[in-house]
Amino acid sequence: DSEKQAYKARIKQLLKEKEAVLVAHYYTDPEIQALAEETGGCVSDSLEMARFGRDHPAKTLIVAGVKFMGETSKILSPEKTVLMPTLDATCSLDVGCPIDTFSAFCDAHPDHTVVVYANTSAAVKARADWVVTSSIALEIVEHLDSQGKKIIWGPDRHLGSYIAKQTGADMLMWQGECIVHDEFKAKALLQLKAQYPDAAVLVHPESPASVVEMADAVGSTSQLIKAAQTLDNDTFIVATDKGIFYKMQQAAPNKTLIEAPTGGNGATCRSCAHCPWMAMNGLKAIEAALVNDGSEQHEIFVDESLRDRALVPLDRMLDFAK
Ligand code: 13P
Ligand code: SF4
Repeated sequence: DSEKQAYKARIKQLLKEKEAVLVAHYYTDPEIQALAEETGGCVSDSLEMARFGRDHPAKTLIVAGVKFMGETSKILSPEKTVLMPTLDATCSLDVGCPIDTFSAFCDAHPDHTVVVYANTSAAVKARADWVVTSSIALEIVEHLDSQGKKIIWGPDRHLGSYIAKQTGADMLMWQGECIVHDEFKAKALLQLKAQYPDAAVLVHPESPASVVEMADAVGSTSQLIKAAQTLDNDTFIVATDKGIFYKMQQAAPNKTLIEAPTGGNGATCRSCAHCPWMAMNGLKAIEAALVNDGSEQHEIFVDESLRDRALVPLDRMLDFAK
């Protein structure tokens, strides 16, 4: 514990020296989220992280999350130094959507509008007409559908089918998934609900359709925290990465929060409701990033021509979300 205190003190000092600000996602460990708050940074969902980083006057952003979040920050703020605790923190959606095959998929359907989730590489964003995050995806697809557009959607098939069901939009799906949310199990959730009949179920839409169907509220991490604050229930069963419990409990201190099941019926979990890549954002790695700024292990670089193209669909999203 005293070792942790020492890390925190050094990080605070380094943030000041380097005119840097810490931007963290709700899925990072509680101590990282607390540190971001304490030091004037932010803890939020992926849309808010992008906006906060872009609008903050700091010279350096240190992004505690996964690589696509760092890349998005760099695309939006090329003049800033963007550091990450580790560039190995990827995302199964990003890995499962390589640019060559995704681009060929788009080329095969030239009459479709390409909408990609923020959880993708800069190259995939550069191939897209729109970027969306889970908090704004539904509204953007509704908007495109109302204009009669046919859509290519990638890479999250669960989020895509949820949106297709809600909007009735014509959507061709890439078959990617988040290894964390894909593991939530409907049958075990049904059993848990029977134990807590008054609980409301909060579900992130990267979860399978059978789980989303049982939800009282579906939304991005920020939207789920809001739901825990505003719904009357005393108990919530929460189907998203367990990192969210830190903020959700702060926002709804008198409520009981229960993890949705990732196993059941003999199944064992791989991620057990915590993203292995988000978990890489430890205190030691944050300190290393601040000490070794400029090193290829920590600094995000996005090729200039790629950046210019990826900025277009990102700006479209941010303008739409205003
Ligand atoms: P949001 O915070 O935008 O809901 O994104 C969830 C996510 O998958 C981040 O990895
Ligand atoms: Fe990707 Fe899922 Fe991890 Fe988010 S939680 S970074 S979507 S693997």
